[in-house]
Amino acid sequence: LLRGGAPFAGRRVVVTAGPTREALDPVRVLTNRSSGRMGFALARAAWLRGADVTLIAGPGQLPAPIGVDLVRVETTEQLAGAVREALPGADALLMAAAPADYRPAAPSARKLKRASGGLRLDLEATEDVLAATRSARRKGAVIVGFALETGDAVSHAREKLKAKALDLVVVNDATEPGAGPEVTTNRVTLLTAQGAEALPLQSKESVAEAILDRVGEMLAHRD
Ligand code: CTP
Repeated sequence: LLRGGAPFAGRRVVVTAGPTREALDPVRVLTNRSSGRMGFALARAAWLRGADVTLIAGPGQLPAPIGVDLVRVETTEQLAGAVREALPGADALLMAAAPADYRPAAPSARKLKRASGGLRLDLEATEDVLAATRSARRKGAVIVGFALETGDAVSHAREKLKAKALDLVVVNDATEPGAGPEVTTNRVTLLTAQGAEALPLQSKESVAEAILDRVGEMLAHRD
């Protein structure tokens, strides 16, 4: 009864969250510092606004938000598969995950032994999930990407907006205090084709509300 009405009621929202990890051998992985907090906050807030939410999450400790359909993945390939499956029914995709961009080219079936010399790793690129799943998007779906940059953030994000055919890019600069992975706050800029709006430093929950306000406006305009 407390969940919201228009523009989210009855909409299907797909959110991705957290890191992915890529095996080097049976016990070692390559991963990144993403906590999943931003994506989990978005999933929870979208459900509270009345949406049907699928949350596709990489490894992490955060509890599943109430009401949300949680799909667990490990690798970028699995994440891409889950997004591809969920997209045809989605009114919005919020791509907050930080998929690993590279994976070991030849993961070892046995644990690599420590040797006295160094260790050279051959890495190969994983799929760019947003780009690779583009053809599975429903016409009119609102697609939100995230850009974590270390300097010159907005101009790099402007390129991503175009290259990945996004409606909104949530930009944050990992070098700013209180922003980026592993913290509970974020300072972001919301970038659309119309322009950029810099938001103040605030909790990831409040950032999620600001993002959903924008997504809601876009959904309402596409009816
Ligand atoms: N992303 C993706 N597939 C990947 C890597 C990233 O779909 N293999 C998505 C992220 O979920 C995010 C957006 O692309 O929404 C931007 O991620 P980012 O890592 O900043 O951009 P990249 O495209 O990987 O570019 P770069 O790392 O070179 O800045």
